[in-house]
Amino acid sequence: MIELTAAQENVRVRALRFSEERLAPRAADRDRVGEFAAEDLKALGRAGLLTVNVPVAHGGLGAGVVSYVEAVRALAQGCAGTAVGMMVTNMVAEAISHFGTPEQRARHLRPLCAGEWPAAAFCLSEPESGSDAASMRATATREGDRYRLNGVKAWITSGGEAGVYLVTAKTDPAARAKGVTAFLVPAGAPGLSASPPEKKLGLRSSVTTQVVLEDCLVPASERLGEEGEGFKVMMSSLDGGRVGVSAQAVGVADAALAHLRAAYERAPTAELADALARSQAERDAAWLLCLRAARLKDAGETLTQQASISKLYCTEMAGRVCQRALRAQGAAGHAALGGVERLMRDARVMRIYEGTSEIQRLVIAREALRAGARGA
Ligand code: CAA
Repeated sequence: MIELTAAQENVRVRALRFSEERLAPRAADRDRVGEFAAEDLKALGRAGLLTVNVPVAHGGLGAGVVSYVEAVRALAQGCAGTAVGMMVTNMVAEAISHFGTPEQRARHLRPLCAGEWPAAAFCLSEPESGSDAASMRATATREGDRYRLNGVKAWITSGGEAGVYLVTAKTDPAARAKGVTAFLVPAGAPGLSASPPEKKLGLRSSVTTQVVLEDCLVPASERLGEEGEGFKVMMSSLDGGRVGVSAQAVGVADAALAHLRAAYERAPTAELADALARSQAERDAAWLLCLRAARLKDAGETLTQQASISKLYCTEMAGRVCQRALRAQGAAGHAALGGVERLMRDARVMRIYEGTSEIQRLVIAREALRAGARGA
């Protein structure tokens, strides 16, 4: 649709091959039993595909955001659950690359980029604070040259599997966003534990747990950014993360489109032509929105609104395309082995995680007001 550079095309082709050869054949089984693809994620790491948008100087592939969304789209076509592990890892790795000290990069980024760890985890939400992230209750109390962390983080992708946890807690519990500070906590740190995995509607091969912090002592040298800057670290990371979820949704829509095309080939009815045409058009529009946000990020521009527009449209589009593919298959569509019902469950989760559709609308509307006030 839009020409890729040779480097971007190289990432796309490698990710697609990996997806077709290693992820797609096992996706249905992994979904059924909720198996985390640790070895595949490490193999992606060794191939540079866990940290596509981390600069080469910091150990990453340095291939940029357009390459990153191409990789996510390709992996999600094969197994959207495994793609989540890759996406959250890239998001945390970017945060460490951008906000971290050279020592933090050496401790945490190097093993992630080398594929020694299967994943990194992003710990923002809590049982009582999901959409209103600034109302978090976890605390970080300074004690000399370390912090004591207490609290519970919820819906954590790769909990119990990650090599490093990017955790937010309040250093000033009376404040909202300005009281939040970010920390890097290595797996195995005393006082950090993960609950058993949640039983989920979709993205089941991505492990999701609570992460519990009980008197977890973290050296001050593991603070990511300054005290009170943690909310901005997380929000700016989520801008990029939402572009990744957009690409994941387009990947799932691509997989559903293959089912729709097959149905139309079997029975070329006007109804199926309509379903296929609408789905293809909406998928292409979604991908363009995703690429627009990716290019803004590659150019170092602010992308808050464009990332939310992209996530809102791409994830809702994926739901519609999966719905049509399910309907086109008739009775076979809802059968667990057919594949479309898994795609539909996976697509539904994407309208919830990394900010619900309602939160994306809130962000888009707020940014529209700000642009209006600037006369833009
Ligand atoms: N980039 C940088 N800074 C940002 C920002 C962004 N995108 N968004 C907000 N900020 C800054 C603001 O500028 C502000 O700082 P100043 O006062 O210095 O200007 C500060 O952060 C507070 O911002 P707001 O006043 O806008 O904060 P708010 O409390 O009104 O909330 C919100 C904003 C958009 C609703 C936010 O809470 C939000 O995005 N909520 C959804 C959270 C979410 O997506 N959670 C998903 C968790 S991750 C996940 O899904 C699991 C996983 O494993 C990946």
